[in-house]
Amino acid sequence: MEQKIADIDRQHFISFEGIDYSGKTTQINLLQAFLQKKGYSVYVLREPGGTVISEKIRDILLDRNHHEMSERAEIFLYSAARVQLVSEKIIPLLKEGYFIIADRYVDSTTAYQGYGRGLDLEMVKQINSAATFGLMPSITFYMEITPEQAQQRRLESGAGADRLEGAGIDFYQRVFNGYKELIRKEPDRFRVINAMQSVNSIHKKIIDLLEDHL
Ligand SMILES: Nc1ncnc2c1ncn2[C@@H]1O[C@H](COP(=O)(O)OP(=O)(O)O)[C@@H](O)[C@H]1O
Ligand SMILES: [Mg+2]
Repeated sequence: MEQKIADIDRQHFISFEGIDYSGKTTQINLLQAFLQKKGYSVYVLREPGGTVISEKIRDILLDRNHHEMSERAEIFLYSAARVQLVSEKIIPLLKEGYFIIADRYVDSTTAYQGYGRGLDLEMVKQINSAATFGLMPSITFYMEITPEQAQQRRLESGAGADRLEGAGIDFYQRVFNGYKELIRKEPDRFRVINAMQSVNSIHKKIIDLLEDHL
């Protein structure tokens, strides 16, 4: 059965976007705890991943040995993972009244595969729409940090590079510009956060913006 999403309340479906090391996971953990204290049942989704099948696809996507993966294979894998996530988790949990926080969602595909890898943006849009059944978050927090600043944080954290993170600063600059374009096109959904502030002031800002939104 195909999913019907027209009657689903998206108010409690939110997402976080931004390049790696922008602080998404840090803020999501804080927000999750905050919302749970308020009495919400909260479910955090990690993209790509979040279901058994999607996690297996994630392993393929992030394997550093897969240098030969074509850009189209990459977008279809991300999208296949997303179809499973939307049908198995997002839609049923929203219907059960959960607050859903997505650690990356469809905007990442547009930014990375569209703007970053250079796939045709109209094709990306159609694939995204098919993969999500048209279900979008009601609000998206964009953690803004430049590729240079992100690189600095990565060096400080002492982490190695996975296949995507090894892609280089030019790639990240295109992704960064792609996010800017996305925000320009959908100013009502995005909330742009200066991700270079302290963890705590960002958390406070996000709570303020979310409370205004709800
Ligand atoms: N506001 C902040 N200021 C300084 N460092 C931060 C901040 N937020 C997160 N970090 C650090 O940056 C790194 C990446 O954070 P993380 O939340 O994992 O980012 P993402 O999930 O976007 O990749 C971690 O080492 C984290 O401790
Ligand atoms: Mg993260």
